This record gives sequence, C-alpha cells and structure tokens, in this order.
Amino acid sequence: MKLGDPPAAHELDPIECVSRDELMALQLERLQRTLRLAYENVPLYRDKFDRAGVHPSDCKELADLAKFPFTTKQDLRESYPFGMFAVPREQVARIHASSGTTGLPTVVGYTRNDLDVWAEVVARSIRASGGRPGDIVHVAYGYGLFTGGLGAHYGAERLGCTVVPVSGGMTPRQVRLIQDFRPSVIMVTPSYMLALLDEFTAQGLDPRESSLRVGIFGAEPWTEKMRAEIEDRFDLHAVDIYGLSEVMGPGVANECVETKDGLHIWEDHFYPETVDPFTGEPAPQGELVFTTLTKEAMPVIRYRTRDLTRLLPGTARPAFRRMEKVTGRTDDMIILRGVNVFPTQIEELVLGVEGLSPHFQLRLTRPERLDVMTVRVEARPGFPGRREAGEALRRAVKDTVGVSVEVEVVDPETLERSVGKLKRVVDQRKT
Ligand code: DLL
Repeated sequence: MKLGDPPAAHELDPIECVSRDELMALQLERLQRTLRLAYENVPLYRDKFDRAGVHPSDCKELADLAKFPFTTKQDLRESYPFGMFAVPREQVARIHASSGTTGLPTVVGYTRNDLDVWAEVVARSIRASGGRPGDIVHVAYGYGLFTGGLGAHYGAERLGCTVVPVSGGMTPRQVRLIQDFRPSVIMVTPSYMLALLDEFTAQGLDPRESSLRVGIFGAEPWTEKMRAEIEDRFDLHAVDIYGLSEVMGPGVANECVETKDGLHIWEDHFYPETVDPFTGEPAPQGELVFTTLTKEAMPVIRYRTRDLTRLLPGTARPAFRRMEKVTGRTDDMIILRGVNVFPTQIEELVLGVEGLSPHFQLRLTRPERLDVMTVRVEARPGFPGRREAGEALRRAVKDTVGVSVEVEVVDPETLERSVGKLKRVVDQRKT
C-alpha cells in the first residue's frame, strides 16, 4: 500500500469501528470507575468533591460529569511531587514532568497498564496518519521528562515500526540520518520541521526528494497555511497530533490522513468537553477539558487544558468526536490595545504574503504608554521586494485582526530556530 493511504477497515483496532452508542456506554462505565478511583485514593479529589457536594455515585449518565469540579494546573502544582497519584508509588512505572517555566514542574505518573494504553493510542495515531508496521519512524521530539519523544517511541514500536530515537537537536545530523536511513515517517514539532527544511537546503538537498512520506506534527499550535507550506516543500502528508502530559502525552487525539479535518479524540480513553474559559459553563467552542477514562496512576477529572478549540462530530472514525486544530491557549492570547491576537492568526497571514518565510517572532514592547507588537519575519532567500512584503503584512493584520502592528522584514536565517516547542512571543514590556 502506498504510504499516506488511509488504513483499510481490517487494519483498525476493533474499537475504532464501534457505533457512537456503544462507545458512549463504554465511556459511562469507565467514567464511573474513574470517579470512584479518584475519590477513594486521592485526597485532593475527595476534598473537592465533598466541598462541591457531589459523590461518584451521582454520575448516572455522561452529562452528570458537568456537576463535578474542575482540576487545574494549580492543583497539580500544589500536589507536587506525587500527591495526585491514585496508586502506591511502587506501582508507578514511569514519571514525566512539564518543564515548569513558571513555578514548580507538574509531575505525572503511569502504571504499566497506563504505558500500555499510551503505546496503543500512539500506535493508532501513527496508523491514522498513514504509517504502517514496517515503516521506519524518525522521532525528533525531545526524549526525557517531556512526553513527546518516549510517547512517540513506544507507540511506533507498538505499531511494529523501526524506530530511530534521534530526539531533538544536532540538526545537520538529523538530515544526514534521514538521508541514510530513509525513514518514511517523521514525528517532530512543526517548527523544528522548518529548521530541518532549512538544513536540507543548506546541504544542497531537495527536501521533496527525501524518503519522508508522512509527518506527524504537534506539541504546539500550527495552521492550515503551515500544513500547506510543509506539504509542498517536503512532498509529504502533514498530519496533526495532540496531547498533553497531564492527560497522557502525545496521542490523545490525531488527524486521519484521508480527511485532515481536525483531530479524532480517542474517546475510549479521554473524555472531552469544551467550556467557556471565563465562566466554566459548557460551550460549543472554548477551552478544552479532559477527563481520563482508563488512567490508573493519575486519573484526571475535568482537567482545564487552556487550549482553545471546538468539538465536532466524527468523520473518518464516525464514533469519535473531532477537535478542531487548536487556535491557541488562553495564556498565549495577546491583548494588544484591547484586541485579542493569537500567534496562529499572524502565522496564517505571514504565509499568505509572497516573499515572507514561515520564520517569525512577535515582539511586544511598551515604548510610551501603549503596547506595540512588532512582527519580525524573515524574507525568503533571494526575494527582492521586502518593503512591499512588509507593508502587505501590516495591511493584512490591520484588515483581518483589526489592530496596527509594526513589521520588520529581516534577513533569512537571522531569527532563532526552535529545537522543540517554539516560543513565538518575546515580551519586552516592563510591567
Ligand atoms: O506537548 C505532548 C505532545 C508531544 C503532543 C508531542 C504532541 C506531540 P505538554 O508538554 O504537556 O505535552 O504540552 C501540552 O502543548 O496543552 C497544547 O497547548 C500544546 N499542544 C500539544 N499538541 C498540540 C497540537 C505535549 N497538536 C500542550 N496543536 C497542550 C496545538 C498542541 N497545541
């Protein structure tokens, strides 16, 4: 089968083929069990449920979940390091942690069974992306406490692939290994894929001639325009993978290569809701909230992800709801002179202007009393009309986002490249 083709029905896990009703029945049973597990084993949940006046036995149908209190990153921090575990520490087979740029890192734990489920959902995700047993998979997500590398790794092994555990960094060597080992699948952040693209060109290689046929990109927001850019420059299928360590890691949701219309959430393990980020009330579009349905070591109940999206009915896997590509996080939103701006909006516009490359940075300053945002963007190599391109971007931002920004078009290869997750915003405002 040509790589990038969707799997045939017989290649899917049986659960991927169930009806919505069957899936919901399974979810309810698992949800009830998870609520009990959390209540009986984690003091934080017992306190929260008691204070909210709810008991696991109040969950008679899936909609009852809305009666239960949310869990936040703050709860995880306050339970540092192992206070969220629902099993004795000896049963925790692995620990991961978020980098904790602000305050303490958040720690997550997995039993053997949790690791098994994680490998299964990542294997499912790779297959949905167009990967198959026997493929060589180049994993350039970071290995370590970050869940990207090891999560991708064990999923690819589970599917029956040959895994190349490169991790992030040493970009020239990455390209060399891709040329020599000829992987058909790459798993990496979309921003680091752009750095690999530059390196192909720097080495005089045509990226379209590489062996790569499928790219599975996630860990940061990226847009349809970026998909088009990467697919065109590499001649591969660019597919979105989503996840977060608090819920599991990569593989909570994944796009199907045949539709590329948002990410199917593997709802047999992760139950999604969307709520208004300000009021916490259920809303068709808003902040994504997850409840784990099978996690043993660290079940999470109504975890506020801060990711903004919308839930949609299933397509390629009809029983499983989809989430739209994430537009950003509530804490990524820039409020510029009263207007809300997401870096993804700027990404779409940058990639719509001829002569501008996908490498850009948003710099916030406050020279007087008002905030100024400067889009620093690299010109594409050899492009002559920089001033016009900058002006076109400035106008596009004003017309679509409704706010004035400064644009600085800089030389190719001058902005810092990311190795893992990209930091788009440089905030130089004095507070
Ligand atoms: O980033 C897990 C992961 C690794 C996902 C590799 C996909 C691939 P954390 O470090 O806990 O876990 O960060 C989770 O990253 O809440 C989102 O804000 C963001 N994120 C992850 N995937 C996507 C995506 C990993 N496909 C946080 N689109 C999440 C947009 C994403 N944002």
